[in-house]
Amino acid sequence: MEGKTLYSAAQPSGNLTIGNYAGAIRNWVSLQDGYDCFLAIADMHAITVRQEPALLRRRTLELVSLYLACGIDPEKCTLYVQSQVPQHAELTWVLNSVAYVGEMERMTQFKDKSRKHADNINMGLMDYPVLMAADILLYQTDLVPVGADQKQHLEIARDLAVRFNNRYGETFRVPEPYIMKEGAKICSLQEPDKKMSKSDENLNASVFLSDDRDTVIRKFKRAVTDSGNEIRASEEKKGVTNLLTIYAAFKNCTVAEAEREFEGKGYGDFKLAVGETVADALAPVQEEQRRLLADREYVSSFLKAGQERAFKAARRTLSKVYRKVGFYQGD
Ligand code: TRP
Repeated sequence: MEGKTLYSAAQPSGNLTIGNYAGAIRNWVSLQDGYDCFLAIADMHAITVRQEPALLRRRTLELVSLYLACGIDPEKCTLYVQSQVPQHAELTWVLNSVAYVGEMERMTQFKDKSRKHADNINMGLMDYPVLMAADILLYQTDLVPVGADQKQHLEIARDLAVRFNNRYGETFRVPEPYIMKEGAKICSLQEPDKKMSKSDENLNASVFLSDDRDTVIRKFKRAVTDSGNEIRASEEKKGVTNLLTIYAAFKNCTVAEAEREFEGKGYGDFKLAVGETVADALAPVQEEQRRLLADREYVSSFLKAGQERAFKAARRTLSKVYRKVGFYQGD
């Protein structure tokens, strides 16, 4: 396992929920010990849907600070901002000549987003998977941790790598999906048969990492529970099961242990305990994030170091690509 490169990126759009935290972010922190990790803030992907410029910049810094607050170790993981490493755009252009319009048009996310943003079906939206392939291939990535929604994009990255290698000779490592340890699957507090989402219109459905203590507790108090009064995980009790899952994820215990703890208790006490547990767990992360956001000098020097490391690795691959395709690179 030692020495393998793991690559991931996250868009600086929208607020993260406790679902993202218990799944992706915490998992990532545990991976940085075993792999050579690159983690990008994908601001170039973000602008494929309309963004408020000042907000995009702020969210970029917020997300970096959040990752650091959650325990990303700058010694072990190269954390950087995608637009600060020009090779992403440069490799995208080369790969554009290898990617087919037809395969891009067939992508599920492109079709979904075209429907959702019918007034803004831009070229970037269609090219999104090629940019993502460039991200991954630039670093000769072995493994990409992906959730279900990004699997098709990773397939395209693999296809483009193989196609390029066949056409121009061995250039890219072909990345494999990294199937994450099953993180806790956290559902909406209002409709517990749906995944908790950052874009849910019902503000009581999702708990955000940025919610203050009172908000967190209020949302849990309003969480839907099921009929009956037993605090037990089961198919028929999706609301209670979800709350038990959340409790277990934030207390680092099993659902069975959580059930035992609440045996004989009422729903009211139970919901309050879950809310307090989550609020207690978020408090130190939020405080550290606030501290970092106030220390712009530290964060920017940190990002500069990330940019330099990423730049060096990316330059190596891009110059190989330019040579393979026949670009003149000076004598
Ligand atoms: N498209 C990914 C998402 O929205 C973010 C992303 C961009 C990414 N580039 C990547 C993920 C490369 C993994 C690898 O979640």
